[in-house]
Amino acid sequence: RVVAVIMVGGPTKGTRFRPLSLNVPKPLFPLAGQPMVHHPISACSRIPNLAQIYLIGFYEEREFALYVSAISNELRVPVRYLREDRPHGSAGGLYTFRDYILEENPSHIFLLNCDVCCSFPLPQMLDAHKNYGGMGTILVIKVSAESANQFGELVADPVTNELLHYTEKPETFVSDLINCGVYIFTPDIFKAIQDSFTQRKDRANLRRTTSFEALQSATKALPADYLRLDQDILSPLAGKKELYTYETRDFWEQIKTPGMSLKCSGLYLAQFRRTSPILLAGSKGSRSATIIDDVYIHPSAKVHPSAKIGPNVSISANARIGAGARLISCIILDDVEIKENAEVIHSIVGWKSSIGKWSRVQGEGDYYAKLGITILGESVAVEDEVVVINSIVLPNKTLNVSVQEEIIL
Ligand code: GDD
Repeated sequence: RVVAVIMVGGPTKGTRFRPLSLNVPKPLFPLAGQPMVHHPISACSRIPNLAQIYLIGFYEEREFALYVSAISNELRVPVRYLREDRPHGSAGGLYTFRDYILEENPSHIFLLNCDVCCSFPLPQMLDAHKNYGGMGTILVIKVSAESANQFGELVADPVTNELLHYTEKPETFVSDLINCGVYIFTPDIFKAIQDSFTQRKDRANLRRTTSFEALQSATKALPADYLRLDQDILSPLAGKKELYTYETRDFWEQIKTPGMSLKCSGLYLAQFRRTSPILLAGSKGSRSATIIDDVYIHPSAKVHPSAKIGPNVSISANARIGAGARLISCIILDDVEIKENAEVIHSIVGWKSSIGKWSRVQGEGDYYAKLGITILGESVAVEDEVVVINSIVLPNKTLNVSVQEEIIL
């Protein structure tokens, strides 16, 4: 039997995701029309002999209750939200709920970060992991040398794939091979976490008896039950024949900002074209809008037949798209109204916002830059014939003049 754990974090972690995280926990923000966490959950549901999926986080329980019960029914896999009273770090959070996880008596435990976007090659990882025979296998990918320092950089044996060296977000370049935040472990991982706690306590005791200065730095340190998987567990276990790597050559991105969510929405739409094209919009006869692949339109949204939509567009529930509107590379959230002949390009339009006739809401499409897309928060009104370029607009604002490269608070 196998169980899967998805780390969803909590409200303090989502600050780079503002203003979108003001309305909805980041893991529930829609990418390709499905909550972010839906993509790893649905990948987990395809693992043979999967008994349970746990989401571990420190968001309020009620924020996940509806989604968790709906998805359990839909996928016929029990999905359960386990709430930490406060952050314990990625390893500490997992350890907090060890009794729940071990209840199923699993032979293997998948552990996934919620904020990564990839094809989640989980069954292949499981096969590789069984061949290696270690305690854990890490999904890894090669990225450009310039971007590697935002991630855990690692060195693996080219023949055996053993993890030889691991450094979390190093200041000087180590390797262009990075940690994707997707793991498989045997239950021995709990022993490794326990050992790490014990060692930390011993070190702290030792310091306390040696000098006053050390005592000060120890008290400033992280709480005793806070442990990070990468720095505190993986790094010390490198080179001990316990951890191995499995390299993906498919797509992989990390989703820390709204810009990246727009990029990843497009990656998941393209994946749907290969795996579940039924979810995508197609031109059905002369009465439907012109669709340029890939596009998701919620069944309750109303799109005028003369609108032109795509590529990479996702339209949520009850949105209304007027005659002659043009939408390219954007996420349109629930209850948005886009009026006649408006254009929305490289942008995210927040819940209940409205965009006036002949208006233009646009970003330059650099998903990695801070102002590379335009983001409208909830209930923003852009009046007729107004142009908004590369800007972030906080909730409840009305724009009656054009703006460019501005953050409107
Ligand atoms: N439940 C819970 N509790 N989840 C947490 C906590 C916690 O206290 N802290 C972090 N998480 C979740 C986050 O929501 C995220 O899904 C995952 O754990 C990792 O978050 P961080 O520990 O903040 O690390 P990171 O995202 O900056 O980097 C990690 O992931 C990269 C891949 O995306 C590292 O492991 C990197 O090495 C890796 O490249």
